[in-house]
Amino acid sequence: MKLVSTIRELRERIAADCPALVPTMGALHAGHGRLIETSVRENPTTAVSIFVNPTQFNNPADLANYPRTLDADLALCESLGADIVFAPSVDEMYPRPQRAFVDVERVTKHLEGAFRPGHFRGVATVVMKLFQIFEPRRAYFGEKDYQQLAMIRRMVEDLNVPVEIVGVPTVREPDGLALSSRNRLLDAEHRRAAPQLYRALLLAAENIAEGERDSARIKCAALASLADPLIRVDYLEIVDPVWVEPVSIVDGPVRIALAAYLGPVRLIDNVAV
Ligand code: PAF
Repeated sequence: MKLVSTIRELRERIAADCPALVPTMGALHAGHGRLIETSVRENPTTAVSIFVNPTQFNNPADLANYPRTLDADLALCESLGADIVFAPSVDEMYPRPQRAFVDVERVTKHLEGAFRPGHFRGVATVVMKLFQIFEPRRAYFGEKDYQQLAMIRRMVEDLNVPVEIVGVPTVREPDGLALSSRNRLLDAEHRRAAPQLYRALLLAAENIAEGERDSARIKCAALASLADPLIRVDYLEIVDPVWVEPVSIVDGPVRIALAAYLGPVRLIDNVAV
């Protein structure tokens, strides 16, 4: 496996190759592992990018605290059969103030878009930069960041980017907590409370499976199950899977998504129904 930190060396290495790409911000866990494994299985060459992208953090403390574990990340990538890891510096990715941005409308309006101003513009812009740098034939993203995945699908369609976007299901701890790089920031008490998030999503999904169609009632019951002083919910919403817009009546496939603070740590999760 090759570790590369400049765009020039990367381009020389992949010249004729077009590897599949797994974009990450590092602090890799088994959820990323699933993305890398899937890519290694489905493509002749896999590249992993590791870059904590400052432009997608709307909260400076979140950026400062974001875990950075490059040595362990490289070991995981190597053990899973990745061919190249691209780990650029901030100066390499943003050598001058960025003046061109990608804004994907509508799909970014609700959920994370409403609570994290500028976040999706930062994600779309850095992912587009990575697509220009790698020209990958395929790129792998986790379903845990469902709105991000929906946005990237829309971005490549609208901007005719010749890449196939592959969504990979969320990997969970045995108690249901969705794997996230931020989980390692939870203290013991909040870690114990965290599986309630997934349980609330399952409760909502069960209500729908039992025939409830009214989103307000479904959300009310799910939120009531989260009445724990250790949990502060930003949103719990039922949205359509394409535009990620809230629905008032469930009459087709939906995603149930939530974001909540456990102490200072903000977690998101979602399930498909
Ligand atoms: O999901 C992530 O880790 C990031 O948002 C991504 C897609 C790597 C862009 O920085």
